[in-house]
Amino acid sequence: MGTCLVLPAAGSGSRFGSATPKQLLLLAGVPILRRSLVRFVGLVDAVIIPAPPILHAGIHTALAGVPLPIQLVPGGATRQASVHAGLRACPPQHAWVLVHDAVRPFVPRRCIRACIAALARFDAAVTAVACTDTVKRVDADLPGRVATTVSRDGLWLAQTPQGLRREFALAAFARAESEGWAASDDVQVVERAGGSVAVVPGDRRNLKITTPDDWALAEALCQIMHD
Ligand code: CTP
Ligand code: MG
Repeated sequence: MGTCLVLPAAGSGSRFGSATPKQLLLLAGVPILRRSLVRFVGLVDAVIIPAPPILHAGIHTALAGVPLPIQLVPGGATRQASVHAGLRACPPQHAWVLVHDAVRPFVPRRCIRACIAALARFDAAVTAVACTDTVKRVDADLPGRVATTVSRDGLWLAQTPQGLRREFALAAFARAESEGWAASDDVQVVERAGGSVAVVPGDRRNLKITTPDDWALAEALCQIMHD
């Protein structure tokens, strides 16, 4: 039973705002996309990268020598559409799929292993960390004012990787497309289709590089993450 990694890299990085797409920026001399991918070497059997065709040559260069079979496919207008394109391209001999943001270069390998292990018993699995801060709700019609405090009991913050059983996910993503469900993460599509979803321990250092503020943090994490 093999595992295919889908590494969506078709975003435009509008919040980060760099001229070069953030997934191809060099972080301590190594492209972020390459850093994210090499975490999975030895743990997955094939890789699909949804990305705009104009970036394909640059991505091949950035990933030269990584010892995994890698296929690039066009992405979509949303992350969900890009992941769906990646899922459709996964070789059918691989029953399990992991989805990981191309801009999370510090994922600990134990998170990847835990996601894969959970797929033996669940339709999907999400890496997540328990919420440690107190949560305030601010309503859009009263900006700048706390409407209420939400109990953080049982609240977890989703990260990637997220694991999917390929056949279940293909059906669920097709249904999401035809019925217009918009999900902000991958396992949400499986939840909505009635599948079982495991939560596995994430890591607060599994940063998603999103805004320019994240850059200094990412450089610091390069110095301390050695697993
Ligand atoms: N992604 C994708 N296709 C899209 C949108 C996002 O493959 N249409 C990917 C991004 O390339 C990234 C991951 O999904 O690897 C997480 O997305 P995010 O951090 O939001 O990146 P961007 O969408 O590029 O950034 P922004 O939302 O600020 O524009
Ligand atoms: Mg985005």
